[in-house]
Amino acid sequence: MKRVVDLKALYFGTPVLLVSSASPDGSTNLAPMSSAWWLDRTAVLGMSLSSQTVRNLVERPECVLNLTDASMVSAVDRIALLTGSREIPERKLKRGYTFEPDKFAAAGLTPVDSDVVGVQGVYESPIRMEGRVRAIHQIGEGNLRTLEVDILRTHVDEELVMPLTDHYIDPLRWDPLIMKFTEFFAGGSLVHPSALARGWEMPALTP
Ligand SMILES: Cc1cc2nc3c(=O)[nH]c(=O)nc-3n(C[C@H](O)[C@H](O)[C@H](O)COP(=O)(O)O)c2cc1C
Repeated sequence: MKRVVDLKALYFGTPVLLVSSASPDGSTNLAPMSSAWWLDRTAVLGMSLSSQTVRNLVERPECVLNLTDASMVSAVDRIALLTGSREIPERKLKRGYTFEPDKFAAAGLTPVDSDVVGVQGVYESPIRMEGRVRAIHQIGEGNLRTLEVDILRTHVDEELVMPLTDHYIDPLRWDPLIMKFTEFFAGGSLVHPSALARGWEMPALTP
């Protein structure tokens, strides 16, 4: 039996990234996001124009996409309700967002210089991709945007590269942090409480 349900969210499960972008003062802003997928050498990101990240990328289209695994979940959660934007929209204020200009420090993560873009990546990230935004498209009438990112260079932890190859990630070793309906999962299990779920007032989990 199936029910017809008016779902409040359609976040079925996607990898959690930290997106690095250049803030107006030249520092690197870091933002958790998970509406992301890849096709050939292009990443497609779904983000709101109310984020500092999209505003930064409109001005300066360089980024680093830092993939995460379970070892980074506390760091991601620490910056879940922070924004690099001084002016915080009413909707975000209600969810508990505050302004934070240095999300690396707030997360306890280490900035690392990039090879081909002028923004810093996250040293702790097992896979990070330097990229340039090629196009930004509006979704519907509101603030949502899709960003097409040309992937220019990818850095991968040695142990994730398939033995005897230089070109493949080993799917048996790579276990991405997944956001499923605002909750953090890895290896199929819940791995950390989620500040985002609290901010969104999601129903409590009953395992
Ligand atoms: C795990 C996680 C996933 C998120 N995914 C998205 C997303 O896919 N798109 C989006 O616009 N915001 C997403 N957010 C919310 C952004 O992180 C939030 O808008 C934040 O303010 C962005 O930071 P910034 O304003 O400094 O750019 C997510 C937050 C978390 C914690």
